[in-house]
Amino acid sequence: MKKEIIVSGMRPTGRLHLGNYHGALKNWVALQDKYKCFFFVADLHALTTAYDRTENIADNCMEMVIDWLTAGIEPEKCTLFIQSHVPQVSELNLLLGMFTPLGWLLRNPSYKEQLVEFFKKKYAGSLPRRSEEKACKEPADGSLTEKVAELTEAELSELSSFGFLGYPVLMATDILIHKALYVPVGQDQTAHLEITRDIARRFKDIYNAEIFVEPKPLFTSVPRVPGLDGRKMSKSYNNTIELGEDVETVRKKIMTMFTDPNKKKATDPGNPEGCVAYAFHKIYNPDFETRCKECRAGSLGCVVCKKQLFELMEPELKKFNERRKTFAADKAAVEKILNADADKARASAQDTLDEVKKAMRL
Ligand code: ADP
Ligand code: TRP
Repeated sequence: MKKEIIVSGMRPTGRLHLGNYHGALKNWVALQDKYKCFFFVADLHALTTAYDRTENIADNCMEMVIDWLTAGIEPEKCTLFIQSHVPQVSELNLLLGMFTPLGWLLRNPSYKEQLVEFFKKKYAGSLPRRSEEKACKEPADGSLTEKVAELTEAELSELSSFGFLGYPVLMATDILIHKALYVPVGQDQTAHLEITRDIARRFKDIYNAEIFVEPKPLFTSVPRVPGLDGRKMSKSYNNTIELGEDVETVRKKIMTMFTDPNKKKATDPGNPEGCVAYAFHKIYNPDFETRCKECRAGSLGCVVCKKQLFELMEPELKKFNERRKTFAADKAAVEKILNADADKARASAQDTLDEVKKAMRL
């Protein structure tokens, strides 16, 4: 029987964090035995926001693939490639863009949200003065957030690019071009998957051709990993623990995790819901239910709870760091995999592109 197809990608915007790992990558590893998997580094997607900061993209692509291999992705089982090495993606992106209504993109909930984050990063201080150095350093009073949030739709679209608005079309292309049935991602990608399905349906309606498969998202048991501050863990929020981060830094970060603000003393009863340390106990502590009871009963303080969390996480993090050295020492081998697999990805993409062009009478 033909294996069902899985596609997923990640933008090379820096080292992977525990949100990427527990929210998506862990699933990739679990799925690789059963499905035909295409996993790629979305360097074109990185350009949608970092078009003027391309100096690190190539290095980031390499580091990202090394993280995947370290986490257990086996190149013999999957097709691993860099998005821009498959030019068929750019061609199909153009074709799909022709019939994707602008309204779908403007209404995409992550459009304004991401745009606000993008401008906060880019223009710390006064808008629209550019300051790379001050990037990410928002004034403590939150005035920048307010300022950006106050920008009207029209002002934001004045500042953003065509490529950024088209982010979901490009993502739909990545998925539809290989006819994926499942897309393992975090919960934050749900709206993008919806647009992908809408584009597939619209293509079928307009061209009367059953080429695309409507893909479904696949989530892990932790589809939204919280960051240190309780918001979604994300590079854009500066609240991450990176995979491969040195363990002493991780220990310090864990001690800053957001906890129940009403639990001031160790003996105060706490509410584990919304507590970041507890969310991580749920991931790393097989007996997290006991921890929940202890917290509610006030029989344990947050400092001890966080120390124990670190002890639970430490062996896994150390193992990752050790294992990573082997892959990082042979980048030529990684290049070789990416080159060979790009051929496979191009062939799969070309087949679909041919069908699409025929259906569109091109
Ligand atoms: P970031 O938000 O840090 O830039 P990406 O957007 O590159 O991360 O995400 C890569 C993958 O990891 C996507 O599948 C995304 O849904 C998933 N992911 C990212 N952050 C989280 C999180 N906090 N919880 C669960 N999944 C996440
Ligand atoms: N949008 C995804 C993210 O921010 C990255 C991505 C691009 C992707 N193309 C994709 C994920 C196709 C799954 C399938 O993480």
